[in-house]
Amino acid sequence: MIYASNFKTNNTRAYTKEYIKTLDKFISKNSIKDEIYVFPTATSLDIFGDISSNITIGAQNAYPVKNGSYTGEIGLEQLDEFDIKTILIGHSERREILKESQELIAQKFDFFKEQGFRIIYCIGETKEIRDENETMEYLWSEFEGIDLGYEKLIVAYEPIWAIGTGVSAKKEDIDEVLSALRVQVKSPLLYGGSVKSSNIKEIASIKECDGVLIGSASWKVESFCEIIKNGQNQ
Ligand code: PGA
Repeated sequence: MIYASNFKTNNTRAYTKEYIKTLDKFISKNSIKDEIYVFPTATSLDIFGDISSNITIGAQNAYPVKNGSYTGEIGLEQLDEFDIKTILIGHSERREILKESQELIAQKFDFFKEQGFRIIYCIGETKEIRDENETMEYLWSEFEGIDLGYEKLIVAYEPIWAIGTGVSAKKEDIDEVLSALRVQVKSPLLYGGSVKSSNIKEIASIKECDGVLIGSASWKVESFCEIIKNGQNQ
């Protein structure tokens, strides 16, 4: 399984250091073999020293340039400094709140693909789209300009209506969408949207689910570790 934690705009630089240290101890002590990803804020990126090889630190976002004049953004040079080779692209909060267009998202994808990054590419429908039964059509449109054959691609299906609400999508719904995606997507498929320690077992048991992308329930390290623990042996 893949367990990815997206800090979004949470946690300080000091707590992030403590978080990674505690997480690393937990992983080694319990001989966890899963792939673990942590996406801290840009200001908390760092070299975290000698940590388990199955923990990867990634960036939540970056502009598709080496460097330049893009006020407020970071580029490849800033990621290289911390040896970051993994990035989230297409998260619904960037699409909806930050108004990132599919064109810019595809541009970011191409740039970081060219740099050999592992890309966790997010897609997800709104409640309205779902109510109109247009989910799959909408999800496919979010792949416009994206190379589904990229070998370092991971796709995260995150229905917007389930993000941060405490109410995850139902097992049958996740199963249906992931199975439909599987026809064309050969990369690992993650589910995201209110994943927590009480529903991880059920979500991890879904046939095409290769892992989870977690927000709120992963911001405290104890809670993230509990999710990883509860997800074992699925
Ligand atoms: P959530 O966020 O776990 O708080 O629902 C998931 C995400 O946005 O990746």
